[in-house]
Amino acid sequence: MSRENYFTEERVLDLTLRPKSWENYVGQEKIKNNLKIIIEAAKQRKESIEHLLFYGGSGLGKTTLAHLVAKEIKKETKTTSGPAIEKPGDLAAILTNLEPGSILFIDEIHRLNRITEEYLYPAMESFKLNLILGRGPMAKIMEMNLPFFTLIGATTQPALLSSPLRARFGASFGLDFYQIFEIEKILERSTKILNVETEGESLKIIAKASRFTPRVANNLLKRVRDFAQVKGKGTITPNITKEALLALEIDELGLTSQDRKILEIIIKKFNGGPVGLQALAAATMENENSILDIYEPYLMRLGFIERNPKGRIATKLAFQHLKTNSQKLFDFLNLEFR
Ligand SMILES: Nc1ncnc2c1ncn2[C@@H]1O[C@H](COP(=O)(O)OP(=O)(O)O)[C@@H](O)[C@H]1O
Ligand SMILES: [Mg+2]
Repeated sequence: MSRENYFTEERVLDLTLRPKSWENYVGQEKIKNNLKIIIEAAKQRKESIEHLLFYGGSGLGKTTLAHLVAKEIKKETKTTSGPAIEKPGDLAAILTNLEPGSILFIDEIHRLNRITEEYLYPAMESFKLNLILGRGPMAKIMEMNLPFFTLIGATTQPALLSSPLRARFGASFGLDFYQIFEIEKILERSTKILNVETEGESLKIIAKASRFTPRVANNLLKRVRDFAQVKGKGTITPNITKEALLALEIDELGLTSQDRKILEIIIKKFNGGPVGLQALAAATMENENSILDIYEPYLMRLGFIERNPKGRIATKLAFQHLKTNSQKLFDFLNLEFR
């Protein structure tokens, strides 16, 4: 399957399984409670809610949260993303067309370019837009009033946001990895929506391989369902689940062949590290953003990778995991390991 089709399928899955109510949004309790208070207080004051920033790894539920907030406000929501807003004019077109009190959701907000970003500051702060008309010495600045709006930004890389932008959000919320029991709960709901039967520990096995991430869990569930349909009688059993994970080359900790390749290369090629991001991306032929957004956070969470100012280091735990999980890696055994 092409990468493109995969992502389209993923998007459709996101939409069907995306919780549409707070009750179905599992976990992240502190964030949910704080958001409800912010929303309630703003409602009482009949004001728009302050600008919100959601940050955290891919698939942890940032977009879903933004939609839940929007639903609560019962106002129009416009959705766009950092890379889609190429120039200040694009931003101006969006901002001047907002309904008063509505929500503007900017996904991947760290990818806004700096020039556009500077137009966003006065818009967020005082709902004004300073348009520059003409060029050179004849240029004039025209100040336009904008409708009140709430900006919700989402990012996987909060460190890449400039500090003036970060400072203009009234509240920021970091989404963390989920607990296994929370992922199981999410999966249970998904099996009902997808109308699939499960037996025994199946969902627990999937949850353990889900990288503590709802989107990954749902994607795995769907793959296992396909397997159950083709190789079994449609019911997801623990054996079918294990067989499917094996076929997908996903181990019981949810490591994919890409994760293992990253670890192998740090160990084998860079003698355990430290290795810088660029060198690691080149050696593994992975995109730097995928390493930062998808692989590294989970490998760090497992304690398989550590980071220091010089780069990434593979830990003893990583070595042990690879050793017990793959016969092919036995040739590493005679490597001196720290
Ligand atoms: N807290 C949650 N409870 C239930 N399902 C969730 C939760 N967070 C995410 N999901 C599921 O994971 C999918 C991806 O979430 P999304 O909000 O798009 O993540 P992000 O925007 O952080 O990449 C959603 O469609 C939904 O099915
Ligand atoms: Mg998203």
